[in-house]
Amino acid sequence: MANPLLEVRDLDVAYGDSQALWGVSIDVPEGAIVALVGANGAGKSTLLKAISGLLRPRRGRIVFRGRAIGGAAPQDIVAAGLCHVPEGRGLFTNMTVLENLELGAYPAHVRARMRASLERAFALFPRLNERQQQKAGLLSGGEQQMLAIGRAIMAHPSLLVLDEPSMGLSPLVVKGMFDLVRTLNEQGVTILLVEQNVQQALQIADQAFVLQTGRVVMQGPGRDLLADPAIREAYIGSVGH
Ligand SMILES: Nc1ncnc2c1ncn2[C@@H]1O[C@H](COP(=O)(O)OP(=O)(O)O)[C@@H](O)[C@H]1O
Ligand SMILES: [Mg+2]
Repeated sequence: MANPLLEVRDLDVAYGDSQALWGVSIDVPEGAIVALVGANGAGKSTLLKAISGLLRPRRGRIVFRGRAIGGAAPQDIVAAGLCHVPEGRGLFTNMTVLENLELGAYPAHVRARMRASLERAFALFPRLNERQQQKAGLLSGGEQQMLAIGRAIMAHPSLLVLDEPSMGLSPLVVKGMFDLVRTLNEQGVTILLVEQNVQQALQIADQAFVLQTGRVVMQGPGRDLLADPAIREAYIGSVGH
């Protein structure tokens, strides 16, 4: 089998004396949707931050497109084709939609393709096209999430890392967000998705990993985990789906 697009091996990450990840290993195959699920505080965001260079691992390896990126600078990781849409979206709320999108295209090799990149973003998100000159902070929650994802794809990532993109969105908007993840994937973008909506995440995931107190405790195809009684009990049944 081909090497995965992203390979994480035996990763330990700590905040000072407090260790948050313990020997975490995950593979993200090229072209896949990979979901990462687990309770609050399990270490999902910590793992994404280590992958995108915002946290330096204490131990272990992160290999992206054959290159070790553990501890590399975030902007170099973006330039290599890995973009992270953080929890809470990280938009510049006082800047316009257009300015936020333009900022996403900062790696030198994509800046030259700005116009084509904007056209792609506006084709995916017609609402953003209509609101180009509006301040990002005045958009609805769903539109802000679209803008955060739109800004990330301005850098033409081969791997898009999404941290709880459906947080705070109404059920209808959540459905649109999952449809969008699928559409981006069909356009060739590999996806690593952290989600609280475990059922919907597992439904679209080719592969999934369950994190519990900083460790991977289960992994497999999304539909297998979805059928697993322990998963249903812990992450799905209890919320009434
Ligand atoms: N900046 C931080 N400083 C210290 N501890 C943190 C920090 N961020 C997260 N943690 C701790 O690391 C653990 C994992 O957190 P996090 O990765 O945010 O979990 P999740 O995203 O799965 O909810 C938790 O125990 C959390 O309290
Ligand atoms: Mg989190």
